[in-house]
Amino acid sequence: MSGLLPDKVTIVEVGPRDGLQNESVIVPLDVKLELINQLAAAGLKVIEPTSFVSPKWVPQMADALSLMQNLIQQKHVRYPVLTPNIKGFESAIQAGAKEVAVFASASETFSQKNINCSIDESIDRFEAIMARASILNIPVRAYVSCVMGCPYEGEISATAVAQVSSRLYEMGCYEISLGDTIGVGNPKLARHLIQILSEKIPVENLAAHFHDTYGQALANILAVLELGVKTIDSSVAGLGGCPYAKGATGNVATEDVVYMLHGMGIETGISLTKLIKAGAMISKHLGQQSNSKAAIAISNS
Ligand code: HMG
Ligand code: MG
Repeated sequence: MSGLLPDKVTIVEVGPRDGLQNESVIVPLDVKLELINQLAAAGLKVIEPTSFVSPKWVPQMADALSLMQNLIQQKHVRYPVLTPNIKGFESAIQAGAKEVAVFASASETFSQKNINCSIDESIDRFEAIMARASILNIPVRAYVSCVMGCPYEGEISATAVAQVSSRLYEMGCYEISLGDTIGVGNPKLARHLIQILSEKIPVENLAAHFHDTYGQALANILAVLELGVKTIDSSVAGLGGCPYAKGATGNVATEDVVYMLHGMGIETGISLTKLIKAGAMISKHLGQQSNSKAAIAISNS
C-alpha cells in the first residue's frame, strides 16, 4: 500500500506504563487500576499496564505484580507487559499476564544505559523469553528504541534499526514497535525507515511508537500510515518519557491521534469523550495539565 490511508487503526495505549514510568512521585495502585479500567471502558483494545523491570531502576513500576493480580482483565482487551529478561517474564506470567513485550535498542549506548547490556546480550536474554513464551503460548511484542536518533549517539541509521528489528521478528516477535524515544524524527526519516524495514518485515507487523518531544509525532504518524502501518502506540494525556533518555517527553497523546484519525474517517473503536475523561482524571491526580491539544480544546469548547 502506498499513499492510501487504512480504514481502521489499532491504538496501543502505553500511558499506564510508558507514561507513568517517568513520574517521580509514586502513583497509588488504585489510581493506576482506575486509569486502566477507564481506558478499557473508552474502547482501547490494547493497553500496556506495567513493566516487570527492576524496582531499583524504575521505582514507579515496583507494584507490577500486585497491579496485574488486581487488574480485572476484560475479555476484549489485551494487556501486554514489558519484560526485559526471564526473571521479569516469569513474574509477569505468575501475576496473570497473557502477553508480554521485550525491548531492545538500535543504539548500543542506549541499550547499556536502559537495560545494562549490549544489543547482542539483550537478544540472548530474549531467546530465553521466546522459548518459554512459545511453550506457554504467550504472544511477544518487541520494541526497538532510538529508531530515528539516540540521546547519546545522535543519528542512528535505518540499516541499524532494520538489523535489530529483523532479528526480533525472526525470533518470533509478532510485531515490532518502532520507538522514536526522544522524538527527534521527521516525516521524511519516518518514511525512509518504513521503506527500509518493510524490505525485511511485512509492514502489517510494524507499529509506530513516537514520542512528541519536538512536536513531530502526528506528522510522522501520518507519514507511516500512508505506507501501510496500522498500529500506533500513544499515551493518554501525552504522559511520559523514558527515565534513561534525558529530555525525552511523553508519547504522542492518544486523544490527539484519535482526533486526527476520526477526522480522516479512520475507525479506532475508541470514544474520544471517554478517553478525554480518563486523561483528565490522571492529569488531575498528577497535578499537571494534559499534554493533549485536542483534549484541552474540546474541554474548553
Ligand atoms: P541489572 O542491574 O543489570 O540486573 O539490570 P541484574 O540481573 O544484575 O540484577 C540486579 C538486581 O535486579 C537483582 O536484584 C535482580 O534480582 C533484579 P538484587 O539481587 O540486587 O536485589 N532484577 C529484577 N527485578 C525485577 N524484575 C526484573 C529483574 N531483573 C533483575 N525483571 C535490568 C538489568 C534489565 C533488570 C534493568 O536494567 C532494568 O530493569 N531496566 C529497565 C529500564 C526500563 O524499564 N526502562 C524504561 C522502559 S524502555 C522504554 O521506555 C522505551 C520504550 O517505550 C520504547 C521507546 O520509546 O523507545 C519501550
Ligand atoms: Mg516509549
